[in-house]
Amino acid sequence: MEIKIPQTENPVHSFITKRWSARSFAEKPISESELNTLIEAASWAASSMNEQPWHYLIAKKGSASFQKMVDCLMVGNQPWAKNASVLLLSLARKNFASNGKPNRHAMHDVGAANTTLLLQAANMDIYGHMMGGYHHDATIEAFEIDENEFEISCFIALGYLDAPEALEEPFKTRELTARSRKAVNEISAVLP
Ligand SMILES: Cc1cc2nc3c(=O)[nH]c(=O)nc-3n(C[C@H](O)[C@H](O)[C@H](O)COP(=O)(O)O)c2cc1C
Repeated sequence: MEIKIPQTENPVHSFITKRWSARSFAEKPISESELNTLIEAASWAASSMNEQPWHYLIAKKGSASFQKMVDCLMVGNQPWAKNASVLLLSLARKNFASNGKPNRHAMHDVGAANTTLLLQAANMDIYGHMMGGYHHDATIEAFEIDENEFEISCFIALGYLDAPEALEEPFKTRELTARSRKAVNEISAVLP
């Protein structure tokens, strides 16, 4: 998908520019070993005190859990996310294991793990799409998440790519639209 690969201002590595948030997923399944590779890649993210606060609930297409995850998504995500090969529910463990104190870096570290997973995936030609559009209370209930222990980070859809034309509108147009970013000088400031 050439249109999704950005022309960067600076020589950003293709390992990074290759990742984008896809919606058109092919029937081709993700194997057990590919899935394990993705989860292990996530685990190599850095984390405060090496706490590794990430936890993934995994649902494969065709399973009852997969349908339960689809049902938890908002209507804008359901039409395309239902075609993913795998749906993940990314959770953050809220407290440090060693002393039970709140880990205020947990969500930061889980975000880093999610991105590491998606970078590994894109470089295996598996594309992912993080989703914050889900029903929070329904998700907590459906997956019996203990809110004293975990906070939801997001859902992630994963799959091999299908043609953009397989999508209905407005998703097809989004799949064919170039990605954009703020300029380097908008997001950073060199201090004197
Ligand atoms: C935490 C988070 C939540 C998101 N939620 C949604 C979502 O509910 N639905 C959706 O279509 N995209 C969602 N996205 C995808 C973003 O819209 C996307 O990453 C952004 O537009 C940049 O595009 P790119 O990932 O292709 O570079 C989410 C991304 C993140 C990181």
